[in-house]
Amino acid sequence: MTQDLEGVVAAETRLSLVDGEGGKLILAGYAVEDLAEHASFEEVAHLLLKGRIPEPTEHRDFAQQLARRREVPGAAAQLLREAAAAKASPIDALRMAVPLLTLGREENPLDDAMTAIGSFPTLVGTYWRLLRGEPAVPVRSDLPHAAHYLHQVFGVEPAVERARALETYLNTVCDHGLNASTFAARVIVSTRSDIISAITGAVGALKGPLHGGAPGPALNMVFEIGTPERAETVIEARLARGERLMGFGHRVYRVRDPRADVLARAAECFYSHDGDRRLYDLARSVEQTALRLLRRHRPRRRLETNVEFYTALLLHGLGLPAELFTPTFAVGRVLGWSAHCLEQLQEGRLIRPQSSYIGPLGLRYHSACAPVAS
Ligand code: CMC
Repeated sequence: MTQDLEGVVAAETRLSLVDGEGGKLILAGYAVEDLAEHASFEEVAHLLLKGRIPEPTEHRDFAQQLARRREVPGAAAQLLREAAAAKASPIDALRMAVPLLTLGREENPLDDAMTAIGSFPTLVGTYWRLLRGEPAVPVRSDLPHAAHYLHQVFGVEPAVERARALETYLNTVCDHGLNASTFAARVIVSTRSDIISAITGAVGALKGPLHGGAPGPALNMVFEIGTPERAETVIEARLARGERLMGFGHRVYRVRDPRADVLARAAECFYSHDGDRRLYDLARSVEQTALRLLRRHRPRRRLETNVEFYTALLLHGLGLPAELFTPTFAVGRVLGWSAHCLEQLQEGRLIRPQSSYIGPLGLRYHSACAPVAS
């Protein structure tokens, strides 16, 4: 009995192929290494939502359609202000704001999906500024998607290399088979519920440290280690305490996660020009020590580097605080959630597995309690 659905195929998809033994990720036909580093986010969004890379005029139209959806409705803006006053975490604020994106509008799957994808950067960027007591910056529709996100967070137009580094990240994480949050989204729309409900549930699923919440703790470990010589002692102590090393291990990959290589390359390129190269070198050395010690401590489990280790390094280099790592993951993954929901709505049936009952049988009800006065 597989209690956690490991190895169970629960959907057919044209969106992404995750080859856990071969260490490959294919996005709608293209290797992630090829697409992530070279394509624009808008091209990848067109590919996943419409099935192919757009022609130049389609690309321009599609980018404009996304950009037109960047403004968030007043109710969502108000919710963000109240969440900031209550000091909610950015990922919780995002989860609370998503349902308001389509308030008062007729449900329309593709339109709702485009609205979510187009407005996530605004929600996250605006919220981060409000949380820090800074005014939100006006939305600019002339910037490409990735640059728009950095503009919303920092209030200045980013350098081309920074926007490219983020775009590579967003493309890398935009879809990944039937991961937990995508599965949650597909289950929700499989009942013929709406896309915004599904995306709200997916944000909740992404938040957990075993899924999208790992990069913050992964970076903390690198900072705690501080110098390569301390790596062995710190990691050894963690493993001896039975702790998991964040940024390592994967349910599907039994070899190195191919996304780790894409992001390691992006981080190396970025840190060589625009950051503290020593941090990159430290992370590389921590990774090597972690892999060696994981092999020693868990000889029967193949634990390799996953996407989150270099996510942390790259996003930190871009100046994003750890609190925004998971929301930034959501800015990329909302594309995959949306595309999966559209696919599920078009081709899927109700997802309704069974459970195996392991509780007692044959009990007889007998109440020892006195009736409660009304
Ligand atoms: N460090 C130390 N031990 C580990 C780790 C780790 N990172 N991952 C798994 N193990 C051990 C685990 O303790 C267990 O040992 P034992 O059998 O002695 O109890 C064994 O490996 C199997 O663990 P599992 O939870 O059944 O394995 P899984 O296939 O469900 O693990 C995972 C997948 C991602 C939940 C796990 O590797 C993990 O917790 N990693 C750390 C968190 C992390 O980096 N998450 C991001 C995942 S990638 C982003 C995404 O695609 O969502």
